[in-house]
Amino acid sequence: MSVPRIYLSPPHMSGQEQVYLAEVFASNWVAPAGPHLEQLERNLAARLQMQDAAALSSGSAALHLAIRHLNLTPGDEVLCSTLTFCASANPIVYEGGAPVFIDSDSETWNMDPNLLEVELRDCARRGKLPGAIIVVDIFGQSADLDAILSIASQYEIPVIEDAAEAVGATYHGRPAGSAAWATIVSFNGNKIITAGGGGALVSNDGQLIEDARFHATQARDPAPHYEHSRIGYNYRMSNVLAAIGVAQLEVLDDRVAARRRNFEFYRRHLGAMPGISFMPEAPYGQSNRWLTVIELDANRFGATAEELRLHLERHNIESRPVWKPLHMQPVFAHCRSRGGAVAESLFRRGLCLPSGSAMTDIELNRVVAAVQECRQLRQRRAA
Ligand SMILES: Cc1ncc(COP(=O)(O)O)c(C=O)c1O
Repeated sequence: MSVPRIYLSPPHMSGQEQVYLAEVFASNWVAPAGPHLEQLERNLAARLQMQDAAALSSGSAALHLAIRHLNLTPGDEVLCSTLTFCASANPIVYEGGAPVFIDSDSETWNMDPNLLEVELRDCARRGKLPGAIIVVDIFGQSADLDAILSIASQYEIPVIEDAAEAVGATYHGRPAGSAAWATIVSFNGNKIITAGGGGALVSNDGQLIEDARFHATQARDPAPHYEHSRIGYNYRMSNVLAAIGVAQLEVLDDRVAARRRNFEFYRRHLGAMPGISFMPEAPYGQSNRWLTVIELDANRFGATAEELRLHLERHNIESRPVWKPLHMQPVFAHCRSRGGAVAESLFRRGLCLPSGSAMTDIELNRVVAAVQECRQLRQRRAA
């Protein structure tokens, strides 16, 4: 194909990454320890207005260590948003827990606090409360943490916020991810800022972070030889990747502005088309618009989300369906869920458009033109 491919959410380097990487090589801290790792932890904790952070090999590892810290009893239930990536729930299973999925509300696409309340009331009635709640900030928008924390605190259940997609977003003027007991972020290659891979656990609970660092380095007891009284993991982030992360964190505000600009561009040029609507922004905060997500009414637009995706693909443009809800995934088919119709409809009707922060107007216009063409071709065929 002659036109260059437009990717969904590619990495966007600032240039400073190479300066910090040169420092890493000059100092020879090419290891899962070193000054850039410590700096990333300090800067990330400050950015999230939390006390401390542990930089890890992935956001998934961060979630695993947060859940592991709670010492679940086998079979303990953990409530989790259903509209998310599998990584949000997998660590529940690693720890012998049983995921229970909670539907989204249609205003924010995040965990519906009313359904959470009903679920917890039922759990209390049955005499078995869940061990934790994992609330996801989907597509860069914070969930309604005040509502969720207030319900969770009535039952004294710890809340873990999966802010993998929401770094740089706000909630009531504060950074998204700053309110829960534990927050995880991801520096995966497709995130708003990336270290090429990696993640972090962020918290005001010093014991949690200390415990995470300990277990992330094979649970090595203090001794001159290798002494182990617990099972650990090799989950620490490399200082090489941390150097990239430090540079990326410095340009986070620019990246949020660029992704929000993409969203506005799409809305300006596509918002009036029949059958297209955009992911709403909750009044309590600012989304980082990690991905611009549209919903299609196939009857009015003339094509389904999957037909539009295939049409964009023919123009060498990558787009992606909205996350398939976890309660619909074969691997979680045996799990309980509360509601589910909202997330199912978003999955059927939603499409994520290319949203990279380095997108040019030419690229944005290519996407817009391809969406418009899809509708025109369909209308012509129907006539
Ligand atoms: C919502 C969500 N949670 C968790 C993760 C896992 O992060 P990582 O890829 O760093 O393990 C991702 C993305 O990768 C994600 O989108």
